[in-house]
Amino acid sequence: MIQKVQITIDGKTIELPTMEAKEGTNVIDVRGLIAEGMFTYDPGFLSTASCDSAITYIDGDAGVLLYRGYEIEQLADNSNHLEVCSLLLNGELPSETELQTFVASIKEKQTIDSKFQQIFNGFTQGAHPMAMVGSAISGLAALFHEEIDITNADSRMTTAHRLIAMIPTLAAMAYKHGRGESFVEPDASLGYAENFLNMCFGETGKPSTISRTISSAMDKIFILHADHEQNASTSTVRMSGSTDCNPYAAISAGVSALWGPAHGGANEAVLDMLNEIGDVSRVEEYVNKAKDKNDPFKLMGFGHRVYKNFDPRAKVMEASCHAVFEELGVKDDPLLEIAKRLETIAREDDYFIERKLYPNIDFYSGITLKAIGIPTELFTVIFTLGRMPGWISHWNEMLSAPYKIARPRQLYLGEHQREYVGINNR
Ligand code: SDX
Repeated sequence: MIQKVQITIDGKTIELPTMEAKEGTNVIDVRGLIAEGMFTYDPGFLSTASCDSAITYIDGDAGVLLYRGYEIEQLADNSNHLEVCSLLLNGELPSETELQTFVASIKEKQTIDSKFQQIFNGFTQGAHPMAMVGSAISGLAALFHEEIDITNADSRMTTAHRLIAMIPTLAAMAYKHGRGESFVEPDASLGYAENFLNMCFGETGKPSTISRTISSAMDKIFILHADHEQNASTSTVRMSGSTDCNPYAAISAGVSALWGPAHGGANEAVLDMLNEIGDVSRVEEYVNKAKDKNDPFKLMGFGHRVYKNFDPRAKVMEASCHAVFEELGVKDDPLLEIAKRLETIAREDDYFIERKLYPNIDFYSGITLKAIGIPTELFTVIFTLGRMPGWISHWNEMLSAPYKIARPRQLYLGEHQREYVGINNR
């Protein structure tokens, strides 16, 4: 491991220490650079570690994703979302008793205050669910602002449990409001994913009719989305949280960042793209559009800043997609045919091979969610629901140790200092 690196600035050689990673890429600690009158420059943070973290590890070349050291494939096959939430928050797989206590804590917090539910009345029926859910999460700050003590570990954990507990209820409320239907109360007798689906598709007072295959597919989707290192939305939560703001406000900032089609909004954009392509015969036309530098069109669900071989979540998602289709007796879904054709062509095309562009998690998640009956505009809300434990685990990890307010610098390319000119002399 290289202990120090040397750089020479205006003839003066300085040494910068390095730090060794437990897994993956080591870092050069550039904090001393400002004393030498220099900044680093890395728009988009391609080569920048914004923090240290012990939560999630990604090896983009090997297609490896670990939550607290456990492979995503093993967790998707053997665990469930609430157990993964506990793992991300606490760092270890819970014992049976610990899991029971965690689940009980979540279940007792799932109900949304009846007065607060009126927040949805402020939205038109056609409002985008991400706008509703982002506003509702930010609104939770008003409900709990007085009692939050971000310096207290127990208070932070209570906030984490509240957010994990309430996000399915808020998401289902956004869905129901969009359909002009009355809300369905949480049912503590149901599992986490089944309860969410029942609040969407069920009726208060009537038993759940959600099939086990569908609820386990949804639970798996939540697991696959639960965390992903320092992605744009998680970095937004960390940056917001570094100002000591209300945690619900920090999470709401993460929801806003996730909404973009370059990030979590891609699952909705994939469905819109597949519908726009419309037929397998037009796939080549769209692949050529994606390759055309003069055309802003990109293949939604393809490419990733970190994964340069394959997104392990996409493989699990694809398998889950086929399981859902089998359960539903869906034989040849036209959108799936178009997706498969897109993937086949892209995998054989030099443009995509050279740029290491492969399907990411969003490529198959949208098709699966559509098959389950989730409307396209709710896809990113599902991503929000899945990612909640990751966001709040990173927020808690940052606040559990000394931290500084995030305040990047810049390369200034503006005007030199100049004197004000009165309007009559311009
Ligand atoms: C998520 O970061 C995370 O971990 C995110 C996420 C998570 O779990 O939090 O994994 C979730 O956001 C997944 C990504 C979802 N987004 C999409 O599917 C949207 C489509 N993908 C692209 O927008 C893009 O691939 C990004 C945003 C995902 C990554 O962008 P980068 O890393 O900045 O790469 P780039 O834009 O610099 O692309 C490199 C080259 C460029 O061509 P050249 O200029 O080198 O000739 O690849 C091209 C790009 O034009 N390219 C694409 C493409 N993605 C990149 N060309 C066509 N279609 C695409 N999808």
